[in-house]
Amino acid sequence: MSMSTVSLLLLLSISLSISSIAGAEADNDAAALLEFKAAAVSDGGYALTSWNVSSAIGFCSWEGVTCEGKLQRVVALSLPFHKLNGVYRCHTGNPRQSAVLYRLETLNLSNNAFSGEIPANLSSCTNLTTMGLQSNQLRGCLPPELGDKLTHLRMLKLWKNNLTGAIPVSLGNLSSLTYVSLAFNRFEGTIPPSLGDITGLRHLDLAYNHLSGEPPHSLYNLSSLEAFQLQDNMLHGEIPSDIGSRFPALRIINLSFNQFTGSIPESVSNLTALKLLDLAGNRFSGYVPRTMGRLAALETLVLSENRLQADDKEGWEFITALSNCSQLKILLINNNI
Ligand SMILES: *[C@@H]1O[C@H](CO)[C@@H](O)[C@H](O)[C@H]1NC(C)=O
Ligand SMILES: *[C@@H]1O[C@H](CO)[C@@H](O)[C@H](O)[C@H]1NC(C)=O
Ligand SMILES: *[C@@H]1O[C@H](CO)[C@@H](O)[C@H](O)[C@H]1NC(C)=O
Ligand SMILES: *[C@@H]1O[C@H](CO)[C@@H](O)[C@H](O)[C@H]1NC(C)=O
Ligand SMILES: *[C@@H]1O[C@H](CO)[C@@H](O)[C@H](O)[C@H]1NC(C)=O
Ligand SMILES: *[C@@H]1O[C@H](CO)[C@@H](O)[C@H](O)[C@H]1NC(C)=O
Ligand SMILES: *[C@@H]1O[C@H](CO)[C@@H](O)[C@H](O)[C@H]1NC(C)=O
Ligand SMILES: *[C@@H]1O[C@H](CO)[C@@H](O)[C@H](O)[C@H]1NC(C)=O
Ligand SMILES: *[C@@H]1O[C@H](CO)[C@@H](O)[C@H](O)[C@H]1NC(C)=O
Ligand SMILES: *[C@@H]1O[C@H](CO)[C@@H](O)[C@H](O)[C@H]1NC(C)=O
Repeated sequence: MSMSTVSLLLLLSISLSISSIAGAEADNDAAALLEFKAAAVSDGGYALTSWNVSSAIGFCSWEGVTCEGKLQRVVALSLPFHKLNGVYRCHTGNPRQSAVLYRLETLNLSNNAFSGEIPANLSSCTNLTTMGLQSNQLRGCLPPELGDKLTHLRMLKLWKNNLTGAIPVSLGNLSSLTYVSLAFNRFEGTIPPSLGDITGLRHLDLAYNHLSGEPPHSLYNLSSLEAFQLQDNMLHGEIPSDIGSRFPALRIINLSFNQFTGSIPESVSNLTALKLLDLAGNRFSGYVPRTMGRLAALETLVLSENRLQADDKEGWEFITALSNCSQLKILLINNNI
């Protein structure tokens, strides 16, 4: 933080002592926003000119800021695609201390050039429902503290950053989550079984990381899943034979470019909502089940680069069966043995 921000904060906190409590809270939000700006904007970035001290009284009308309630507290900060290129430092934390945006519900800072780490004290914003920080240059770990308190969080969008370390076990506490994408980062280690506790999860995307081990069986308990994307990791294991009874709403599975083995279970054909199945670049073996012909919604089937067999009439029956899938547009089965 620069010296000028510090003195600005001092000035603001002195002014607090002569305001009412409500006024104090609002001033606190203004200070928090100005602190955010000071960190977020650096040379060559978008200047956020509407955010300035002379208009601080009207911070609710600053670009990207939404206020709510009698006390006009900041509930949303939405500045996607703004070329913000400083350090991400959303000031949050103990509401009794300095500048805090702890009533925030929506944070959308996607598609900027923020660097730095995700602050652990973002977990103080206990009313957050949407955290959209995708497509930035954030690095470091995903702070485990985020899993402790954000019980209202529904969307966690962190794809295309440079995050490292393990996926925190505590994410499994975020029982309101419906959408998680951690894709295109450098997460490593195994997928924590606790993710299987997020019963309302509809979209799980962990693709393009360095995850290893077997996907925990608990994930197959996520019966609301519509999209399940684990492609481009180093995962191994088999698809459970009862997968067909696990995901009645599943539309997309992409497990491509991992080290999965075993056969494609016949029960896959019971995933009647399935539109996209991509298992390319693994070590799947055996025949492709001919029951796949029951997948009436199937549009894309990619089985390339495996060890699948079709060396006799029975092996090729799946092709005939697929002629039943009237929506099928893409079928790739090249590079098998
Ligand atoms: C402060 O913001 C107002 C609009 O909110 C703008 O008209 C004015 O030019 C800004 N002042 C500075 C110094 O950037
Ligand atoms: C929040 O955490 C950051 C670093 O992670 C720290 O610089 C900042 O002072 C903390 N804010 C509060 C209000 O605790
Ligand atoms: C969260 O939202 C509820 C309902 O809108 C409100 O009563 C509560 O004060 C908020 N909590 C925080 C920390 O802002
Ligand atoms: C954030 O803003 C982008 C661009 O306007 C939009 O596509 C996206 O849906 C928003 N994300 C969230 C989580 O609101
Ligand atoms: C990610 O981090 C690595 C190592 O610190 C660095 O070389 C790379 O440029 C970073 N990538 C992005 C997109 O920031
Ligand atoms: C969150 O998860 C961690 C790890 O699973 C657990 O130790 C902790 O008690 C949980 N916290 C809450 C508030 O449920
Ligand atoms: C799946 O859910 C069932 C019923 O809620 C539970 O008994 C079982 O332990 C769960 N399986 C895993 C692997 O978490
Ligand atoms: C599945 O993931 C791979 C990345 O490994 C990607 O190239 C492919 O387009 C995805 N499949 C489909 C059908 O979208
Ligand atoms: C598909 O579902 C039906 C009805 O639930 C069940 O009888 C059948 O055994 C399942 N097929 C496979 C291959 O699991
Ligand atoms: C083709 O579709 C019909 C009607 O949905 C179904 O009864 C039949 O079993 C399917 N044939 C194959 C080979 O899957």
